[in-house]
Amino acid sequence: MSNESLANLLKEERRFEPPAELAADANVTAEAYEQARADRLGFWAEQARRLSWETEPTETLDWSNPPFAKWFKDGRINVAYNCVDRHVEAGNGDRVALHFEGEPGDSRSVTYAELQREVSKAAHALTELGVNTGDRVAIYLPMIPETVVAMLACARIGAPHSVVFGGFSADALATRIQDADARVVITADGGYRKGGASALKPAVDEALTKPGTENVRSVLVVRRTGQDVEWTEGRDVWWHELVERQPEQHTPEAFEAEHPLFILYTSGTTGKPKGILHTTGGYLTQTAYTHHAVFDLKPERDVYWCTADVGWVTGHSYIVYGPLANGATEVLYEGTPDSPHKGRWWEIVQKYGVTLLYTAPTAIRACMKWGDDIPAKYDLSSLRILGSVGEPINPEAWMWYRQHIGAGSAPIVDTWWQTETGAMMLSPLPGATATKPGSAQLPLPGISATVVDDEAKEVPDGGGGYLVLTEPWPSMLRTIWGDDQRYLDTYWARFEHRYFAGDGAKKDTDGDIWLLGRVDDVMLVSGHNISTTEVESALVSHPAVAEAAVVGATDPQTTQAICAFVILRGTAAEHDTLVDELRAHVSKQLGPIAKPRRILPVAELPKTRSGKIMRRLLRDVAENRALGDVSTLTDSSVMDLIQTRLPAAASED
Ligand code: WT7
Repeated sequence: MSNESLANLLKEERRFEPPAELAADANVTAEAYEQARADRLGFWAEQARRLSWETEPTETLDWSNPPFAKWFKDGRINVAYNCVDRHVEAGNGDRVALHFEGEPGDSRSVTYAELQREVSKAAHALTELGVNTGDRVAIYLPMIPETVVAMLACARIGAPHSVVFGGFSADALATRIQDADARVVITADGGYRKGGASALKPAVDEALTKPGTENVRSVLVVRRTGQDVEWTEGRDVWWHELVERQPEQHTPEAFEAEHPLFILYTSGTTGKPKGILHTTGGYLTQTAYTHHAVFDLKPERDVYWCTADVGWVTGHSYIVYGPLANGATEVLYEGTPDSPHKGRWWEIVQKYGVTLLYTAPTAIRACMKWGDDIPAKYDLSSLRILGSVGEPINPEAWMWYRQHIGAGSAPIVDTWWQTETGAMMLSPLPGATATKPGSAQLPLPGISATVVDDEAKEVPDGGGGYLVLTEPWPSMLRTIWGDDQRYLDTYWARFEHRYFAGDGAKKDTDGDIWLLGRVDDVMLVSGHNISTTEVESALVSHPAVAEAAVVGATDPQTTQAICAFVILRGTAAEHDTLVDELRAHVSKQLGPIAKPRRILPVAELPKTRSGKIMRRLLRDVAENRALGDVSTLTDSSVMDLIQTRLPAAASED
């Protein structure tokens, strides 16, 4: 589709009805909303029965001490048994659980029966290392099958894991080991990324020299790349030596539904990272249900692929726990989308016949930038549902995803949720909802969310404010590890009895919800609240712009002035008038108040590993300050590039 016809399409109020055959055979229909509205707790009790409990719960929710929830508290269950063993017992041991694709091109398929043996051996190995129920295990691994095995082995013995993203530094790893007081670290010599072997073990060695990490007794090391590693005798153990010699049978023990399953750290705007605590029964219920409902998973036919890293909550909930609880066959890919070439993802979709794809807007925009001709070279006709998560997806990227990846017909499910919510909260249902480009639309069945104003009053359709969750949900965080007060202050203090997600949102005239980014990202310009997301979306709707990041810079006249950083499309030459043209374009789309004061073309934008734009750093640039902490950036040279370009490209009114 040409950019012009795309632009025309976007002017209309569009809705895309679910494909008829999908709607006819959908796992979940609109009836679920009615059912959940009539009896929310009864609805979740029914979803909990999707799992195999050793002791069925009789109480659904204990909310006697809000906001500390207990879901299914008298039930007992083993997560690993639910994700692995029960599928083997049901006769599906030969079904592939993981199609692993290494970045160098090695591949390996692991069936549920094999997964059961691997998880059992790893559980014995952890026990041999002295890991007891309740002990924390840090996992610092690349995207390989052993990572999934390690997480499930921890779950199997009731040892909460703390997965630390493999791209984080030794310091970040040490902080997380200290905070959780981990007893064992599971790592690898290294992993493959961007065409080369990248080491992991040295960061563990360095982290363990820091105070507060002394309780780490053992480091279990997977051999992935074969690169040389330093070895500490008595502490370091090879996975292939210890795990391989363990028995292949292991009896899973059931734990209380509120037994801690994992801690996952998420960066706060200030201070030390927050250890988000998730527990067992409610978490598994909601991840399994949402994966079943939102991806319409048919485990015997579908091939599912979530491109996230396991070091991120999306990987926990929608690579490991949700899909495996549902007996899915899924792809696990180690590397980056452009290694060794920019068609790598589409080659993988073609190779495995992927039917359900879950990825992030930042990746979709990167693929748009690389060009339509790349996905066009591959057979993507197996794809039937496309998911998006991580940030608001601008309507242009949404349309491109549908047209060029989804053959113009695959429904897109824009799923809003957070590390803290544990599982999806807002999303269309692919067989029931007419989808709208750019909107996460509505709470899933059993979820209560709305948009409120500063006074906590629900806004009418057409109004804007803050997204809040008004009732507890099964996969909610239970607290911040070791800091109940911070849990209360961060999430429950802004609005009474409501969980405040930190996101701005608006309701359109149909009552559908649109996410507007973190409220810290709302700008105040001459008394008007303007969301960075809306200005970015307007910029990206211009054919010359591939990606945009917008920040508000302190301004004596207008409180804040809008500064935009844009990546231009491959073919869009940088010409003198383009900046003015873009400013006029935004002004036309959103009104003159939203016209950016400055627009700066850049080659790259600073992003975290999970693809979020680090606006804080761009604000530093826009306000001519020294840069703050850059340790979570994917590539710190990006900021040097942007800063050197700054003076020339500024455009003042
Ligand atoms: C924040 C949570 C959810 C797993 C990955 C990120 C933003 C997430 C969407 C979406 C608009 C979204 C929000 C949210 N976000 N999904 N579909 N539309 N915004 O987890 O790192 O905890 O980040 O990501 O701002 O609060 P996270």
